[in-house]
Amino acid sequence: MTISIVSTTPFSDQKPGTSGLRKGVTVFQTAHYLENFIQSIFDAFDTYAGKTLALGGDGRFYNRHAIQVILKMAAANGFASIKVGHRGILSTPATSCVIRKYHTDGGIILSASHNPGGPDGDFGVKFNTANGGPAPEKVTEAMFARSKEVDTYKILDAPDVDIDTLGESKLGDMTVEVIDSVADYQALMESLFDFDRIHYLLTAGNFRLCIDSMHAVTGPYAHAIFEQRLGASAGTVIGGTPLEDFGGGHPDPNLVYAHDLVEILFKEDGPDFGAASDGDGDRNMILGRNFFVTPSDSLAILTANAALVPGYKDGIAGVARSMPTSQACDRVAAKLGIDCYETPTGWKFFGNLMDADKVTLCGEESFGTGSNHIREKDGLWAVLFWLNIVAVRKQSVEEIVRDHWQTYGRNYYSRHDYEGVDSDRAHAMVDRLRTLVPTLKGTKYGSYEVDYGDDFAYTDPVDGSVSQNQGIRLGFTDGSRIVLRLSGTGTQGATLRAYFESYEANPEQQNQDTQKALGELIAIAEDIAQIRSTTQMEQPTVIT
Ligand code: G1P
Ligand code: ZN
Repeated sequence: MTISIVSTTPFSDQKPGTSGLRKGVTVFQTAHYLENFIQSIFDAFDTYAGKTLALGGDGRFYNRHAIQVILKMAAANGFASIKVGHRGILSTPATSCVIRKYHTDGGIILSASHNPGGPDGDFGVKFNTANGGPAPEKVTEAMFARSKEVDTYKILDAPDVDIDTLGESKLGDMTVEVIDSVADYQALMESLFDFDRIHYLLTAGNFRLCIDSMHAVTGPYAHAIFEQRLGASAGTVIGGTPLEDFGGGHPDPNLVYAHDLVEILFKEDGPDFGAASDGDGDRNMILGRNFFVTPSDSLAILTANAALVPGYKDGIAGVARSMPTSQACDRVAAKLGIDCYETPTGWKFFGNLMDADKVTLCGEESFGTGSNHIREKDGLWAVLFWLNIVAVRKQSVEEIVRDHWQTYGRNYYSRHDYEGVDSDRAHAMVDRLRTLVPTLKGTKYGSYEVDYGDDFAYTDPVDGSVSQNQGIRLGFTDGSRIVLRLSGTGTQGATLRAYFESYEANPEQQNQDTQKALGELIAIAEDIAQIRSTTQMEQPTVIT
């Protein structure tokens, strides 16, 4: 087999965003586009000799093609071995698990997460380092720098590898091992949770569960874990077959896009527990019968109840949340006497804290929760954590959340997204707010008074690296907040995200409609930021 050294010209737009390089499929189909970026990833290693990788993706369109390209390029560049998921399938958390379990030097995940798939949808490439987590900024910057210079890439002239059969084969001098997509991940889950107790919950009484895999990667995992291992009845998993276009859907587990599941849980006599995951399996949405758990509350509740779960019974070191995530978990941390860290948006900021044993649990408002068992957020892990708590406490999801609010107070919380905004206008708005909000301290708006305003900057307590311009924050004297930032994962125009949070300690006042409870803050944000005229939209495109 011969190695081709292919001449290429660099692309200027291969800058990884919040979560890897994400573009439309048609962009990735441009000649050499994928290959250039893969070579740039490889070149960020000092040497490839003897190095090992994990490789898999969420099964979306272009996944199988990209896997073959990456295998042939890795073989040509001199990697020693690659573990690739069966049929090219590995969820994001499962990839993190495989990297850590087998001590590979890193992994490549092919996914655009919750973005739609198919020939007209999105594709993405993400590189994770040897700790199992998303590459930190210094690594992604090195890749980006390389992508602006790369003028050749190496690829082996070889037939496609059979990724549909488990086992080892050789590709040039490199070993390719096709591994079971689920087994290692399932074993890790069994080591953390009380599977006997959850099995009893799901089989002994009338408890009913519905898991929506949204035709994305978690289907095989959910079938194996919930139906086969934990005894849930057949049909518990819906949307359980991964499809290249996710059945035409938008595999994002929230109240808008997971409406099939929402309808099931919110109808009369619906199941007791519902959950959905996203395209690559790292996000989760938790529902009780007729009840939605906000991701921010979910993180706080998992933290407060961690001692009930075998994998966390000896206590947790600390907790971390992204800056826009509500401050509900801060209150739990204070009560437990543990540290709570506030990081910029994106999972990559949690890795250092976990590697340094500063935090055990972490989460984001964007339907992401996880722990130090891996270095990615983990959708099914969150579902199992909740089921373990429900099995021990023998209460409904709603009862558990309401109990929590009684003890800690309720953080009303909502995110408003404005998608497809003109990029120049959106950036101009953020630039204007960056200068404006620090001057607002002491200003009164209705019943609120501004306590501080800034553009969030984060200094990593482990390596001292500084990340600037992470989102406009406006804090009020009663702890309420408005946060505005631009998405780093969108592929069309700009997406403005506005986050609203208020705190209610009085149980009598904890049953209001969320949008009503936040109404005054929403109006203040409009007043200060002029969102409608900037976005030229009367309403957000998505409210979660
Ligand atoms: C979004 C979420 C963020 C999450 C990321 C990857 O990023 O807001 O919390 O980590 O997706 O799943 P954004 O588009 O806001 O930059
Ligand atoms: Zn995802």
